[in-house]
Order: sequence, then structure tokens, then C-alpha cells
Amino acid sequence: MRRTHDIFLIAPPGLEPLLAEEALALGFAPATPVPGGVEIRGDGAEIRRANLMLRGATRVLVRIASFRAMHLAQLDKRAHKVDWAAILRPDVPVRVEVTTRKSRIYHAGAAQSRIERAIADTVGAPATSDAPVTLKVRIDDDLVTVSVDTSGEALHRRGHKEWVGKAPLRETMAALVLRACGYAGDEPVVDPMCGSGTFVLEAAEIALGLMPGRDRRFALDDLALESPAPVLPASRDTALRFHGADRDTGAVRGAAANAVRAGVDGVTTFTAAPVSDAQPPEGPPGLVVVNPPYGARIGNRRQLFGLYGALGVTLAQRFRGWRVGLVTSDDGLARATGLDLTASAPIAHGGLRVKLWQCDLS
Ligand SMILES: C[S@@+](CC[C@H](N)C(=O)[O-])C[C@H]1O[C@@H](n2cnc3c(N)ncnc32)[C@H](O)[C@@H]1O
Repeated sequence: MRRTHDIFLIAPPGLEPLLAEEALALGFAPATPVPGGVEIRGDGAEIRRANLMLRGATRVLVRIASFRAMHLAQLDKRAHKVDWAAILRPDVPVRVEVTTRKSRIYHAGAAQSRIERAIADTVGAPATSDAPVTLKVRIDDDLVTVSVDTSGEALHRRGHKEWVGKAPLRETMAALVLRACGYAGDEPVVDPMCGSGTFVLEAAEIALGLMPGRDRRFALDDLALESPAPVLPASRDTALRFHGADRDTGAVRGAAANAVRAGVDGVTTFTAAPVSDAQPPEGPPGLVVVNPPYGARIGNRRQLFGLYGALGVTLAQRFRGWRVGLVTSDDGLARATGLDLTASAPIAHGGLRVKLWQCDLS
């Protein structure tokens, strides 16, 4: 029988319940949201499937050991008993990261060198700071928990968005925002300030049933941990179209090139236009999702009031029947749209706290 592991999906802070929803929808269980992520269980195939398929997870960690240690000698002894060879390969260097909290072992560096030595003595893998495999060790209330990061490079790096503008959204966050807006791949999506095209690309991929991890590798490929190829769903066609616009022609070119790399250029369009020119495409209504500039990162707040006002007027007048999702860090700017928006709880976004503001345009 295949071994079942405790798996921890790291979530963008504030979006844990949405990642739990996504995990459940993809058949992962129990999908319990906790601060910082979502707990699931599964075998090696499930670990690979989580890396390949979850759009909202930042990383997939697998717990490999948990034991008490009151002092360094005890840590040393117990770390030597861990079955490192089941997880790590002798030829692949490993990086050990330790955090300690409310524990008698308070010196993270000393704990790190004990664990590195236990790995070198047992499996033979060398420790380096730029290793392809990372072990995350938490010592909390004298309980040592060791996890291995099976993703490697963070999962928002799908491998397609080579062009990025000044304030890009992470793909993981964009995917969870789309989920929060009720987007399930069955309606058109418009982003009138698309920058690098993150929302448009994610929406098109969801509609086409493309796995977010299809074009990248994972740290999993450098581990001894067995992770056979899981059974995966096939992609599908869609008659839907996904539209991005931006007044910056460089952004429009960059987003279009990103779409080609992602293989979604057949269903996406990108247009150089100011937001006041936005028009709904022909066909049924869908979702407008937008992440306008906000003062903390780009632009000047006073000018931005005019921009948000223009966005609100354009949407209210031309996008009847559409839903709106707007991501901004500034409540005053969101209100300046004049739309009847409802705010989400705060979401962490690169050192800022943003909210998702939503409404239906009737
Ligand atoms: C925060 S960025 C959007 C980032 C995007 N979500 C991404 O992931 O790359 C805001 C974008 O709004 C665009 N923008 C600013 N004023 C605009 C206007 N009046 N009309 C259209 N686009 C505008 C900027 O060029 C910028 O690309």
C-alpha cells in the first residue's frame, strides 16, 4: 500500500478558505483551512497532482517527521533516527531552514547544523544555501516538525508570464480572486487594466482545463519520495473569449506574448486602450475583473480618484448584466467608482493589504 502523507498547501494569507474550496473541488481531502494554508492528506501521486493542478497554492509541503526535543543533544539523536533516505537523495544538496518559537532550543543556527549533520551522516546529501530541495523545520513549544518543500520555485511561477509590468498580481492570487468572483470557466472575462494579463491568462486556462503546472518542474523531481504520475483530466476547447486592455502599449504587447507562451493566444485578445474606451464583447455577459493602480505602489492618489471614477462610469453605463471584481488596497478609491461594491476581508499582497470589491451591474 502506498504511504499517505500529511500535506500542507501554503495559501496567500487571507485566501485560505478559497484554497480549501479549490482543493475540495479537485478531490483533495480533508482540505482543512488553517492560518497560512490548507491541510490535506495523500500519497505521492496526490503530492504531484497538488503541484500540477492547484491554481491557488503557493507551495506544497509534506510533513516528514515530528518529534519532541528539549535540547540540542536530543535533537541530534532524534534527527539521526528520521528516515531521510525515504525523502532525500544522496546526490541532491539540501537547504535546511529552521524557525524556533517558545522552545528550549532557541538557537536556530545550532539546530540547523544538527539536522544538516544528521542528513549528511545518514543519507549523505550535502547542505548548501542554494540547494534545489528545501527542508522547513519548525520548533514550536519544543515540538520539532520537519517538512519538505515539494514545489521548489513558488507555484505562481507557471513559466509563462515572462513579461511583467510594474505591479503584477501573482497568478495564485489572481486564480483565487477569480474563484471568489464565482468564475468557473464558463463565461467571458474582461480586464480593462490588464498589465501583464494575469487575470486574462488564468481565466482562459481555467476555461480550457489547462493545468497551471503543465510547463514547469517541481522540487519533487529531485526527491527520493515516490510521486508517480497521477491520472489527470484532459484539456478541452472553449468558445469563450478573454479580453485584456491597457493604455500602456508595452503592457499589451507583453501580455499578448505571455498568452502565446501559455498557449492561450487562440482565445485571448489584448488591446491598447484607456479604460474609458472599454466595451463589452459581443455575446453573453460575464465577469469584469480588474486591479487598477493604487497609490501605495504606482501613481498619485489624487489622480487615481479620477481614474476609478471613469472606471465606475464606464462599467455602470456599458456593462449591464456583468459582475465586477475589483482588487485595490485603497477603500476610498474603491468607493470613488460610485459602484455599489461590497468588500472582502483583507488579503496580503506583497507587503500590502488589498481587498476584493464586488458587485453585480444590473
Ligand atoms: C496594478 S497594474 C495591473 C496589473 C495586472 N493585474 C497584472 O497582473 O499585471 C494597473 C494597470 O493599469 C494600467 N492603467 C493605468 N491607467 C489606465 C487607464 N486610464 N486605462 C487603461 N489602463 C490603465 C497600467 O498601465 C497598469 O498596467
